[in-house]
Amino acid sequence: METELININSINDETLKRAGKCIKSGGLVAFPTETVYGLGGDGLNELAASKIYQAKGRPSDNPLILHINDQKMLSRIVADVTPMAQKILTAFCPGPITIILPKSDEVPKTVTGGLNTVAVRMPDNDIARKLIKYADTPIAAPSANISGRPSPTSAKEVYKDLHGRIEMVLDGGNCHFGVESTIVDCTEDVPVILRPGAITKEMLEEIFPVVEIDKSIVGENVVPKAPGMKYKHYAPKAEMILVEGEQNKMPQAMQKIVNDWQNDKKIGLLVSDEVANYIKSDNICIFNYGKQNDLAQIASEIYEGLRYFDDKDIDVILGEGTTSKGIGLAIMNRLHKASGFNSINI
Ligand code: TXA
Ligand code: MG
Repeated sequence: METELININSINDETLKRAGKCIKSGGLVAFPTETVYGLGGDGLNELAASKIYQAKGRPSDNPLILHINDQKMLSRIVADVTPMAQKILTAFCPGPITIILPKSDEVPKTVTGGLNTVAVRMPDNDIARKLIKYADTPIAAPSANISGRPSPTSAKEVYKDLHGRIEMVLDGGNCHFGVESTIVDCTEDVPVILRPGAITKEMLEEIFPVVEIDKSIVGENVVPKAPGMKYKHYAPKAEMILVEGEQNKMPQAMQKIVNDWQNDKKIGLLVSDEVANYIKSDNICIFNYGKQNDLAQIASEIYEGLRYFDDKDIDVILGEGTTSKGIGLAIMNRLHKASGFNSINI
């Protein structure tokens, strides 16, 4: 199949209406959101959902998120909007957060990977919102990458992974946050974060007295409640090792590892400005993800950083860890998964 790439300058009501029709008639359209690009299909059409799994090469037990543009659409797809869910909607939606609720009968089990719950999100992006409106149906959309690869934050990366597999790609420029939405399970007594994102634990604690984090995220060896979190994910092509420890010791520590390894291995560095400017060695491939304390900037660069090394001739990527405060928890979660929990403590 030919994949049509709609250039950013050609995005208008007419092209978005056409994209909406494409989805309504069972086609697949990749589109920008404020987090990462999504691979969209009609969320109430079983055939469209199976096409999504196929295009991504995604295991069928890994459920999809339904993207909506108003509360009316929400009441169609969930059995009940609980007070906990309503509080999140009021405080953070539209925005980079996904809530898990019991599903309604209208939602096919293909979409929910066989579960009785459904993941719902109201994206904060004009192109995404208009696309949902014109498609006139909730849009099921996982991140628009081949399964296991880092999520795409630009249309160019979507096209690289998915051209020939889907009908259209809408180019909306670079995504604002750069990491996927926070997922909150609203089916328990207290909200539980199943995947950290830009709506942080600290932000949720401003509206709830108690907020829990799924144990799998903090490194405990339990099965994650979000099925997708159990797969090795976000993986660059080369082996990756995460270097963790105090920020101010990072430059010297990285230089020492580089010195020790350089003769045996071609090294790539995914590091902060502070480390990038300190490293004295030649022939080191460096991706500078920004200043150590600018976590928003690091989040928006992290997936591009992970993909950066794919066409470079290197054996190992050394990734520099961040703090786990705020959106740092989301960054560290993605880095841990990209490295398969392989890390060095300095
Ligand atoms: O920011 C985002 O959320 C992006 C954009 C495109 O909206 N989407 C995204 O989708 O990251 P995806 O499919 O890559 O990740 C969805 C995650 C998976 O880990 C999946 O297992 C989990 O959500 N999930 C979906 N439905 C669930 C459910 N009913 N219960 C628990 N986890 C669920
Ligand atoms: Mg994904």
